[in-house]
Amino acid sequence: MSDGAAGHAERTAVGVFDELARRTFVVVSGKGGVGRTTVAALCGLALADRGRRVLVATTGHDDRLAWMLGADSLSEVPTPVEGGLSIVRLSAPACIREYGALVLRSSRLSTAVFDNRIVSRLMRAIPGLDDFSLVGKAWHDAFRGGDYDTVIFDGPATGHLLYTLGVPRAIRQTIAPGPLTREAELMCQHFEDRTRTAALLVGLPERWPLTELDELGVALGDQVGIGVAAVVVNGLWPSDVARVPTLDPDAPGAAVLEAVAGLAATGRRHDRELAAWVQGHATPRAATLTLPWRFDGVEDRRALRELLAGFAAVRTYAEAGT
Ligand SMILES: Nc1ncnc2c1ncn2[C@@H]1O[C@H](COP(=O)(O)OP(=O)(O)O)[C@@H](O)[C@H]1O
Ligand SMILES: [Mg+2]
Repeated sequence: MSDGAAGHAERTAVGVFDELARRTFVVVSGKGGVGRTTVAALCGLALADRGRRVLVATTGHDDRLAWMLGADSLSEVPTPVEGGLSIVRLSAPACIREYGALVLRSSRLSTAVFDNRIVSRLMRAIPGLDDFSLVGKAWHDAFRGGDYDTVIFDGPATGHLLYTLGVPRAIRQTIAPGPLTREAELMCQHFEDRTRTAALLVGLPERWPLTELDELGVALGDQVGIGVAAVVVNGLWPSDVARVPTLDPDAPGAAVLEAVAGLAATGRRHDRELAAWVQGHATPRAATLTLPWRFDGVEDRRALRELLAGFAAVRTYAEAGT
């Protein structure tokens, strides 16, 4: 009984973030445009609120992460934004130079190697090198840099993420032993360690996209050894709008009421899709959290804070049945 209670407690948003606050590396993923960067920022705030020194590292090209957190732009140098929270953009050229310096243990050597035009052209031809440098830099900041307790990796979308996180395994399997394979081996060990690394998957409230998210979760475990801590279903529309009366189309306010009715219908569809997906799982799995759709967007810290308070937990089929 007490086990069940503890298990359930961990499945609330507070429980999920308490748990993630004990991790060193948190990977956020899902399809493009579903709210990965927003969820990475929320997770960053939640962990910083728990006294952690957190870096949200994004491979995204837009500056939204910075704007949402009140900074002007996103730079390749970590920028503190509030409390213990900092943000940074991971770009392949900067990561290759910086992470290369760490592997080669000399920035002079790294500049000589990586800034050499012929060498860099050759390097670009090595498949996976860009991705290895991105994940290597984030991994270094998480596990060896010492400046942060947790690094949140807002990495590429679904398929590309598996490829990116899979590069260390590929290096371990294919390259002759040397500095690079030693790094890759350590990375693999850290990713596979469920007490240190966890994934947070983000999807929209539609059944098939959520099913694809399950597949991503399985693939992350199988291909890179990373366990999923929680799934965040983002952007639920309100369904609990009181029953809307139907008015004569010419009556004042009829258009507004029609719009409200349409909104509630979408919200009810989201609830149905979510319930169908939840019931499709006979076995317990990662915690499921939801976030409401904000009709006025998520453009600043106030909006982010409000959204953080809007996390809700969904009871899974297995829990509801016991
Ligand atoms: N819960 C939400 N309510 C309203 N707008 C949202 C919500 N989540 C994300 N958005 C908006 O959707 C867009 C994509 O979000 P973003 O986090 O950048 O997605 P991704 O990183 O997956 O591409 C942004 O304009 C963001 O403001
Ligand atoms: Mg993004």
